[in-house]
Amino acid sequence: MVVNRNHNSEILPAQQDGHGASGTIRHIYVHIPFCARICPYCAFYKELLDRSQTPRFCEAILRELELHAREQLASASSQTGAGDRPQPVTIYFGGGTPTALTTAQLDYLLTGFRRALDLSQLDEWTMEANPGSVSPKKAALLHQLGITRISLGVQSWDDDLLKLLGREHNAEQAKQSFEIFRRARFTNINVDLMFGLPGQSIDQWRETLKRTIALEPEHISTYCLTYEEDTEFFLRHARGEFRQDSDSDAEFLDAAMSMLEAASYEHYEISNYARPGFRSAHNRAYWSGADYLGIGPSAFSTIGLVRRQNVSNFREYSDAVLSGKSATGSIEHLTAIMKRAEKIALGLRTDTGVPERMLDSFETETREFVRLGLLQKADDRFVLTRAGKSVADSVAADLI
Ligand SMILES: C[S@@+](CC[C@H](N)C(=O)[O-])C[C@H]1O[C@@H](n2cnc3c(N)ncnc32)[C@H](O)[C@@H]1O
Ligand code: SF4
Repeated sequence: MVVNRNHNSEILPAQQDGHGASGTIRHIYVHIPFCARICPYCAFYKELLDRSQTPRFCEAILRELELHAREQLASASSQTGAGDRPQPVTIYFGGGTPTALTTAQLDYLLTGFRRALDLSQLDEWTMEANPGSVSPKKAALLHQLGITRISLGVQSWDDDLLKLLGREHNAEQAKQSFEIFRRARFTNINVDLMFGLPGQSIDQWRETLKRTIALEPEHISTYCLTYEEDTEFFLRHARGEFRQDSDSDAEFLDAAMSMLEAASYEHYEISNYARPGFRSAHNRAYWSGADYLGIGPSAFSTIGLVRRQNVSNFREYSDAVLSGKSATGSIEHLTAIMKRAEKIALGLRTDTGVPERMLDSFETETREFVRLGLLQKADDRFVLTRAGKSVADSVAADLI
């Protein structure tokens, strides 16, 4: 997950921010909201797949991309006299489930992106995939059209837990999907896992980690289940059917850190582990506060001090874009204080931490966290200790 569903912004000097010298957006997020089945814990903007709606939706996505490309070109050429297609460094297709689209629709979309953009600077192009919607033909097409990284939503290797999560696939299908992507010559695959699930034992979690390591993905994301408001899981939790235990959540996180680090994965962000050289470029840009452009319903864009969100309704979105209107649903003007708070909160979650000078006004708090063994100083930066990672959000809350 991640990417521009969260928000952060920081104005950096030219070349370091999300724009190239000519004002071209360097990081693009695309939201595809369709899923073949709706999971009862999920709060992302998503809709049950309706194949009668997706062709028009795909057309709208390309129209929005072309519109942004034209706008940026106009502003770049008025500033520098430059004039060429935008040159993104990372693109991330998330959702929802991008692979819920048909092979022909993905072909149409990706070909449209290749036409509208100059991909000569592209470092990473990720697509999220659900094991229930993967085929050899689809995987081969994605590879052929330039997708470089797959993020596969496995969640668990335990069939009972997958059933509880309402997933459309079982463990065996998830394994087959992983192998399909490998056979399609993908050399950068992320596996998403979830822990802290109702009734999940630490042994089940260790077994899921063990089976994931055995597959040798380049990247592993481990997310602690959040009971998101307005989901079925939230209601079941409120009724007392599910219990949340922060002590065992910390034990699950500890097991992940121990087992994945022992298997040579670097723990570079609270929820993310990568083999050397395989940290996600898109997510790292986002965590460092780079600007990004969001395309599709509900997608956020942050450019300088302005954050926009597109409407969270794919019909309204398609109607607006295809009739030449803006799909923006809300605009937020950021202040320096907000940007600083976001940068601290996101930075603390990473292994590079936060520059000491950013926490100057929290001297008492940082001293106390260091004394408690939750924070440590590495060169001129504050970084969470292993114990601090279990309480990252509480530490951040006291420092912003
Ligand atoms: C957009 S989904 C990934 C792609 C695809 N839709 C799927 O589910 O396989 C992003 C990831 O967010 C995580 N996730 C979703 N809802 C969550 C929740 N309530 N708590 C923790 N993690 C969650 C899951 O690990 C999921 O794979
Ligand atoms: S498939 Fe993914 S995006 Fe869709 S409902 Fe399930 S977790 Fe959410």
